[in-house]
Amino acid sequence: MTESEDSAVSSPSAGAGTPGNGTATRPSHYERIGGAESVKAAVGLFYDRVLADAELAPYFTAINMEEQRRHLVLMLTVVLGGPNNYAGRGLAEAHQPLDIPDEHYARVGAHLIDTLTELGVPADILDDVRATLVSVRDQVVSSGTSAGV
Ligand code: HEM
Repeated sequence: MTESEDSAVSSPSAGAGTPGNGTATRPSHYERIGGAESVKAAVGLFYDRVLADAELAPYFTAINMEEQRRHLVLMLTVVLGGPNNYAGRGLAEAHQPLDIPDEHYARVGAHLIDTLTELGVPADILDDVRATLVSVRDQVVSSGTSAGV
């Protein structure tokens, strides 16, 4: 018995967290929660939470509101494995100059999970979102060696 398959047995969507694969035969989490419309609704709630967090607001008040919303839509789309229409800078390139500490990354992740929980997103999807947050963390959190990047 392999450990990785063990946890997937009872969950058809476990392991389907490949971002950018919205056309797979198996619906992505993005599709399961209702696609673009649901993501937009989640962005509204998520945005309010992040902006109300005094530790995080400064990152986002430096960019305009439209950009902030776009950021949150992209972020949600990536963690939900939705269509990745984003053709801009890589995650590391966009975030390393911001010097984001692990603690702030964790706070954003917690607001994201809280938002999705509030919207009734199923537990198996939340588990995969958490896994994605772990997998992209090193690109977003400051490596502390950003000199010259
Ligand atoms: C799963 C985690 C995250 C994902 C997938 C993500 C995604 C993205 C993407 C795709 C961009 C590029 C937008 C562009 O240049 O057009 C971006 C930029 C940005 N991100 Fe994130 N992000 C994440 C976490 C965070 C966190 C934790 C923070 C702050 C605490 C943050 C703050 C920002 C800011 C301020 C920008 C704009 C940078 C600029 O325009 O110079 N992001 N993010």
